[in-house]
Amino acid sequence: MADAKNKIPFLDLVTMHEELEPELVSVFQGVLRTAGFVGGPMVEGFERDFARFCDSKYCVGLASGTDAVRFALMAAGVQAGDIVVTVPHTFIATTEAITQAGARIDFVDIDERTYCMDPGKLQSYLSTKCYVDQASGRLYHREFKAPVTAVVPVHIYGQVADMDPIVELAERYGLIVVEDACQAHGAQYFSKKQNRWRKAGSIGHAAAFSFYPGKNLGACGEGGAATTDSEPIAQKMRMLRDHGQAKKYYHDMEGYNGRLDSIQAGILGVKLPRLAQWNEQRRECARRYQELLAPLSGSITLPYEPASSKSVYHLYVVRTPYRSELQEQLNQAGVGTGIHYPIPLHLQKAYAAMNHKPGDFPVCEQVAAECLSLPMFPGLRANQQANVAETIAEFAAVRSSN
Ligand SMILES: Cc1ncc(COP(=O)(O)O)c(C=O)c1O
Repeated sequence: MADAKNKIPFLDLVTMHEELEPELVSVFQGVLRTAGFVGGPMVEGFERDFARFCDSKYCVGLASGTDAVRFALMAAGVQAGDIVVTVPHTFIATTEAITQAGARIDFVDIDERTYCMDPGKLQSYLSTKCYVDQASGRLYHREFKAPVTAVVPVHIYGQVADMDPIVELAERYGLIVVEDACQAHGAQYFSKKQNRWRKAGSIGHAAAFSFYPGKNLGACGEGGAATTDSEPIAQKMRMLRDHGQAKKYYHDMEGYNGRLDSIQAGILGVKLPRLAQWNEQRRECARRYQELLAPLSGSITLPYEPASSKSVYHLYVVRTPYRSELQEQLNQAGVGTGIHYPIPLHLQKAYAAMNHKPGDFPVCEQVAAECLSLPMFPGLRANQQANVAETIAEFAAVRSSN
């Protein structure tokens, strides 16, 4: 059993904030002295800088990533009663946002190597479960008799989904694409179609980011943002976050209280210039894990990063059929781990009414049963990673001799 000093946390948010403390305190003082708690230059400045970081024209600061997915869908044109297609291997916020936008959730399975939406499965969903209504030209679900209007690929663990074929299908069927980039600030994808690298958040009609504290770019509280290149979508999102008003007390529609607050925007503004460097540190940690764990690849499955991807490793996730045993052994050695996510969304109690059963999305179900997230954060040291790898090697040696 490791003593407290030698413990390796799953995530260390304390050290990072110690280093930033003077700058963060001065943000707070600045807000206190001007009493500019909501909106104003700190929010606008951050929106401008984050839009630039994402290679997007507009960024709208919001109260959370969940609001970002919801407002992006609504502003891009999803209507009550529409069907929105996503994956069952994500945090429930993705699907909560779809329901909260008034739409109906439907799932396609994930790719077994990247764990993101499988474009082949999306294609077969669209071509077999849906039909184009001749009168309206719109895509309808055969069984549910409702229009299918949007797709939400999730850039899970910090890796952008295979967007070329997803965007192509969306164009063919007239679908809205909202990227759930809540785990992927700064991740990149090489579009063969456009022959250039694209940033997460700049590919779909709109995209959602979360600034929950543990994210690659995290606030000291709640926060989120949505990006888009479309002025009308950006404008609608600004209204949705602010009670449906573009001008104070002139409400063109009902909206929400979904604004990013100024203190969080200021804090994010302090952190944003460091994000590229932090992401690079995460990538370096991933490379090191990959080297250390390569000899064990017969026993555990390592993350797969295609040549078309620059993941920002929000999480470093391995797989083993003996997950609980490995997690327990790491725990005994003082290594923190996580499981993202243990129960696929289609099998959650919250979605019992969808009547799904085990076997409906087999890839997702297997990943959910086997995935284990190892410590990953900027500042994770090489010797700590070596200790993690040593414990996994001991585990693999015992397993292979059984
Ligand atoms: C994939 C995904 N989507 C949406 C969200 C929602 O973000 P928030 O917690 O900021 O509402 C999260 C964050 O946990 C997430 O990981």
